[in-house]
Amino acid sequence: MTNQELIALAEEAMEYAYSPYSNFKVGAAIETESGKVYTGCNIENASFGATNCAERTAIFKAVSEGETKFKKIAIVGSQNPCYPCGICRQVMSEFTNSFFPIILKDEDDNILSTTLEDLLPHSFNL
Ligand code: THU
Repeated sequence: MTNQELIALAEEAMEYAYSPYSNFKVGAAIETESGKVYTGCNIENASFGATNCAERTAIFKAVSEGETKFKKIAIVGSQNPCYPCGICRQVMSEFTNSFFPIILKDEDDNILSTTLEDLLPHSFNL
């Protein structure tokens, strides 16, 4: 799957964002080593701390179906680039390595590629 195709799937998922409190939509699409794609959106809650980010929605959907090996993730938001929050970076580090590609769009709609190592150096792992 190309980065462009994965971004397009993240953009479709973003349409399902449930974000009545922030009005900020996020969509994510993660490709597994086996070639499947799982998508996710942010899901907010009146008890704000119960909110789940788009990235974790996608990752948890995959893991809950037995998929724990990933190739890359695309993330888009109401504002781009939409970098993943710290909790999502930590969740990615559980299932990926430092070269894991994180695909984003910049403010001019160009596709960017960074890595988990760039966004979460010296990560905590047991
Ligand atoms: N959000 C995500 O879905 N992913 C991130 O990595 C950062 C933040 C969501 C959470 C909340 O619904 C909204 O964006 C504003 O913080």
